Amino acid sequence: MSQKSVLVTGAGGFIGFHLVNYLKDRGYKVRAVDIKDPEYQVSSADEFRILDLREIEDCREAVHGVSEVYNLAADMGGIGYISGAHASITYNNTMISAQMLKAAHDAKVERFLFSSSACVYPQHLQDVPSVVPLKEEDAFPADPEPGYGLEKLYTEKLCQYFTEDYGFQTRLVRFHNVYGPLGTYDGGKEKAPAAICRKIAQANSGDTIEVWGDGKQTRSFMYIDDCVEGIYRIMRSDYSGPLNLGTDELVDVSGLVDIIAEIAGKTILKRFNTNRPQGVRGRNSDNTRLLDVLGWEPLIHLRQGLIPTYAWIEGQVKAGGADRQALIEPIPRVAAQ
Ligand code: NAD
Ligand code: GDD
Repeated sequence: MSQKSVLVTGAGGFIGFHLVNYLKDRGYKVRAVDIKDPEYQVSSADEFRILDLREIEDCREAVHGVSEVYNLAADMGGIGYISGAHASITYNNTMISAQMLKAAHDAKVERFLFSSSACVYPQHLQDVPSVVPLKEEDAFPADPEPGYGLEKLYTEKLCQYFTEDYGFQTRLVRFHNVYGPLGTYDGGKEKAPAAICRKIAQANSGDTIEVWGDGKQTRSFMYIDDCVEGIYRIMRSDYSGPLNLGTDELVDVSGLVDIIAEIAGKTILKRFNTNRPQGVRGRNSDNTRLLDVLGWEPLIHLRQGLIPTYAWIEGQVKAGGADRQALIEPIPRVAAQ
């Protein structure tokens, strides 16, 4: 068991909250930082500080005395959110990422992990549902998702320059669409799995729900337990280049709705709406490099991960979303099959 002191930023958010639990289970002393408290449960971190990481002095306070930084803080959401606020998202994330990197380097932190995204990949490589899975080297020549994806791509480069010029140890993780309990499911920032779970939880059997796009667009989705396991393994590895972290289980959005409806035990009809944001036509993760580096890849199948996800969102919906403290129940871990 290590007694290292580590920092998780964005620890009031979805992945950061779960990562704090994971690190606490492994004996780390964890400082958690966010601009807001966690929305659904109390953090298990040793200390939780409210800081605005767009401010360099707040970044310096956050990194003081820790040996490793997991930098997950970002202005972030599903495709409806990131395609509708390019200026504020790009500004906020540029400030957070660049200043956290600088503060961590100045404080002589040993390792710095940056949470990048599959949104760095060129849009023209993702224009058909039967997409060729994306390899890390496909990111250049660049044509990323505007705003959000562009910032992720140039911050990856900035991290690499700090490694090349200063010998600063950085790790770059390109997440592919992550879902699970405690993920945002309403309010406009929710991603497709949580949004569809919420719509089905709110529906009666035989009802029709709105599905964005024509339903033929494809994605791969990664369950949160695989995500935090992968983050930790990448941090511990010696590899400083970018790595995909996702599954290669491709599903179309209409199929995603069918799986969730079946888990819910409801007959659900779909009204496709092509006037809503759709993002890329197809996206999948090529895990060749991840497997080479780690000898491991995410293992939890979509249906397995959607069972606890749907159960948690259904519970939230039934409780009206308001009585959140009443819903502090342990979430069972999902065993890969
Ligand atoms: P999230 O929105 O749940 O968590 C991000 C947290 O960052 C939030 O709690 C937010 O309050 C915090 N934050 C925002 N601005 C801040 C500021 N100025 N100072 C301090 N904290 C601030 O998102 P998440 O799903 O947990 O994502 C975590 C990281 O992973 C982000 O960097 C995101 O871009 C990246 N990512 C996530 C996914 C995914 O599918 N969830 C996919 C690709 C990349
Ligand atoms: N959000 C949402 N809500 N999407 C829906 C819905 C709905 O009710 N119904 C269908 N979709 C479709 C969207 O139109 C899109 O084609 C697909 O589901 C996936 O949408 P999201 O999950 O919102 O986003 P994304 O996969 O395009 O991008 C997300 O993943 C990236 C990493 O892979 C975003 O969260 C990015 O921020 C993230 O970096």
